Formats: sequence, C-alpha cells, structure tokens
Amino acid sequence: MNETIAIFASARRNGNTGKFIDWIANELNINVIDLSEKNISPYDYEHRNVGDDFIPLMNQLLSYKKIIFVTPVYWYAASAQMKIFIDRTSDFLDVEELKDIGRRLRNKTAYIVCTSISSEADRSFLNSFKDTFEYLGINYGGHVHANCENGYSPNEYKKDVSKFVQSVKCLDLSTAV
Ligand SMILES: Cc1cc2nc3c(=O)[nH]c(=O)nc-3n(C[C@H](O)[C@H](O)[C@H](O)COP(=O)(O)O)c2cc1C
Repeated sequence: MNETIAIFASARRNGNTGKFIDWIANELNINVIDLSEKNISPYDYEHRNVGDDFIPLMNQLLSYKKIIFVTPVYWYAASAQMKIFIDRTSDFLDVEELKDIGRRLRNKTAYIVCTSISSEADRSFLNSFKDTFEYLGINYGGHVHANCENGYSPNEYKKDVSKFVQSVKCLDLSTAV
C-alpha cells in the first residue's frame, strides 16, 4: 500500500492548487482527498460536531506514514477549509476517547504543497503549519510552492516538483525547508 496521502483544500478543485497537486499526486501515485467533499464543521468547545466526517477522515489518514497538506495561500494563511481541519485536531487534545488518535499522529511526516502569487511561500503561512506539526509531534518533511502570479505555469516548477517528489519518496528530512 502507498504510504502517502494528500489532503487538499481550496475554494476551487481545478484551480492552481488543484492542478499542482494533481501533477504531484500523479508522480507519487497517491490519492488526494478533497476536504470540500467532507462534512467537517468548525471547532466546537462542546464537541457537538463529533459525528461529522472529521474522525472517520482522521482514522483514514492514520493508516498513512506521510500526509501532504495542500492549500493555496489566502491572506498569508491556509484556506478556510484547511484551517477548519487543523482547528479540529484540538478535539484530540480535549476529548478523552480521542486522545489515542492524537498520540498516533506522532511520528507521522507532514509536507506542504501550496500556491500563491508571490515568489515564495509566505513565511507566516509556512510557520503556522510547522509550529502546528511540532506541537502535535509530527515531523516536518518540507514544502513545494508554485508562484501563480502569471497563471499556473508548470514548466516553471519542474525542478522544484522533481526535488519534492524525490524527498517524499526518500523521506530525507535533513533538507526539509
Ligand atoms: C481570498 C484570496 C486571498 C489570497 N491571498 C494571497 C496572499 O496572501 N498572498 C499571495 O501571494 N497570494 C494570495 N492569493 C492568491 C492565491 O494564493 C493564488 O492565486 C493561488 O494560486 C490560488 O489557488 P487556487 O486556484 O487553488 O485558489 C489570494 C487569493 C485569494 C482568492
């Protein structure tokens, strides 16, 4: 079984980020889960949403060693759907029956695939992911970014994609950026 999975969240499936991850997923031969197809509601202190798609999705993700988080940069941050997904990991910290899921996340490796209209992925965007991974005990494997300032131009990202795909395949954490 493939040990990597991608979770994707953008305001459109076939936009810049969708095309970018489809290319990478094809190279890695992995599945892409579109969060917009899931019913995942925002974090709730009362956990009244415990029956939505979040826990089944997490259980699915836990069977993989490497998880690729895929989102465009929207206002120096992840897309709203991705932020909701990340917020919901707080369920593992405060619902006793779910703590085991949180523990099982430790030692997974996470990557970021992102697009924006800047030459590089925004630092605060990347740091919010890296800090979250660190808090959850997840290794950070690195990121790849596509600058879509002039539209989606795959030729411009060939080298970066090939390096990223290699690092996911080889799990080389020493060069994670
Ligand atoms: C709501 C919104 C906010 C955005 N904020 C940023 C930003 O802060 N920095 C940036 O470089 N690009 C920003 N962009 C541009 C997108 O990151 C870029 O066009 C991206 O490739 C869109 O991916 P998509 O087609 O999957 O939505 C923003 C776009 C939108 C729609």
